[in-house]
Amino acid sequence: MAALKASALLAALACASHVAAHGHVSNIVVNGVYYENYDPTSFPYLASPPTVIGWKAGDSDNGFVAPDAFGGPDIICHKNATPGGGHATVAAGDKISIQWTPTWPDSHHGPVLDYLAACNGDCETVDKTTLQFFKIDGAGYVSGSDPGLWATDTLIADNSTWLVQIPSDLKPGNYVLRHEIIALHSAGQADGAQAYPQCVNLQVTGTGTVLPSGTYGTALYQATDPGILFNIYTSPIVYTVPGPTLIAGASSSIAQSSSVATATASATLPGGGAGATTTTTASTKAASTTSSSSVKSTSTTLNTSTTTKATTTAAPTTTGAAQTKYGQCGGSGWTGPTSCVSGSTCTVLNAYYAQCV
Ligand SMILES: *[C@@H]1O[C@H](CO)[C@@H](O)[C@H](O)[C@H]1NC(C)=O
Ligand SMILES: *[C@@H]1O[C@H](CO)[C@@H](O)[C@H](O)[C@H]1NC(C)=O
Repeated sequence: MAALKASALLAALACASHVAAHGHVSNIVVNGVYYENYDPTSFPYLASPPTVIGWKAGDSDNGFVAPDAFGGPDIICHKNATPGGGHATVAAGDKISIQWTPTWPDSHHGPVLDYLAACNGDCETVDKTTLQFFKIDGAGYVSGSDPGLWATDTLIADNSTWLVQIPSDLKPGNYVLRHEIIALHSAGQADGAQAYPQCVNLQVTGTGTVLPSGTYGTALYQATDPGILFNIYTSPIVYTVPGPTLIAGASSSIAQSSSVATATASATLPGGGAGATTTTTASTKAASTTSSSSVKSTSTTLNTSTTTKATTTAAPTTTGAAQTKYGQCGGSGWTGPTSCVSGSTCTVLNAYYAQCV
């Protein structure tokens, strides 16, 4: 009797952790530079959350979008998502390391997919229902069976990161990168798959000319697609990654490896301001567990942290038009925009920082 109770309790506990153990993308790393993502588990509770490249979303439980919602707006960039307030600048051809919160649960096998959609303007103000996503990678089944190894297992082996490459011939412009895991551990039953879409804003530079056609987010998947309604506890496994076909020249994934950040940057605002990069002591893989917190601690917010930011950051790489409201417009060493968009005034807060308010 006691033994029975203990095993029942263990099963219940395993179930509970199963339910809680999902995740979100905590950051991306581009050429060694760390960009913080939106944290749905903490930002909603902050008085002044940092402006980040990631889209705001209502997955405060680190949860998922179920197939019965695949025709609605939540599948685009997760629940009740609205655009991130800034973006990261990357070059066409760059590889971006996407870091999930540790550790992606190994029971949650399934495909990992990446899409881009042109914003045709600033992504920070784009209407998500106008975004047309084209698929730049999509990896699913790897080996074995019942349940076998899947792209998520590759991701776990690389410290819960996924490496995606921006097509080198992509037309320059503003894009939403839609990265997604679809967990299939319950997908053998109707409405059992779990989609975890995560969106970040990118400004892609380069000389490319290609802009592939895309698919609206709400049309990416159907609940009964063979890659969505699929039993992984079987043998042999023959799996079709769901969604539209890959763009010309793309492969299901590039060679995977994890990246370590050696610097951190804050999101660049639509007008081009505040995209400063802070170089930190280079961290190594051997020292990674302790180094990442030092990397994170140097990340700055656009609206609140002022003195620290201005004293530790290098000049932003972009200058140009008027600074957006709340962006930096002056201060010691500042070489970015010094005028403000109409409706805000450049106000000197201290010797190191002036802000459009
Ligand atoms: C693994 O990822 C964590 C963040 O989740 C990071 O702190 C750590 O440095 C990474 N480890 C390696 C070996 O890259
Ligand atoms: C900036 O901070 C002020 C005061 O804390 C707040 O009222 C305002 O909404 C913030 N703006 C942004 C863009 O976060």
